[in-house]
Amino acid sequence: MRVISLSVILALAAPLASALTVAAPTNPTSGEITEIHWGFTASDPATFDLFLVNSTQAFDLKAIIGENLQTNLGQITTLFPVEASGNTYQLRAVSVDNVDRVLAFSPVFSVLAPA
Ligand SMILES: *[C@@H]1O[C@H](CO)[C@@H](O)[C@H](O)[C@H]1NC(C)=O
Repeated sequence: MRVISLSVILALAAPLASALTVAAPTNPTSGEITEIHWGFTASDPATFDLFLVNSTQAFDLKAIIGENLQTNLGQITTLFPVEASGNTYQLRAVSVDNVDRVLAFSPVFSVLAPA
């Protein structure tokens, strides 16, 4: 059910022909190793940039998670940036040629403070 409604939202938010889907990381913790997974099809761009944003504000860029990520890897293991804990974070995948061209948003997720 949740997956279906999410894909409807993504379809509305991303009118461009991209099938990229970005998953919310599992319990990401500020400054600690985190896995980020995404789904893709052959029609997606070969690389993309991945930003961490505050979902409650349209242009609240918190950090650049990766640039020129290879789409067909499907995942990266990375050091999550040091950020305040909060529950309105979101990943935004954008075109490497034009960061205003959004390819996909992840679901909104929480970032935990380090233990
Ligand atoms: C996100 O933005 C809201 C205001 O819209 C702010 O209250 C909140 O602290 C921000 N969260 C983070 C993690 O920056």
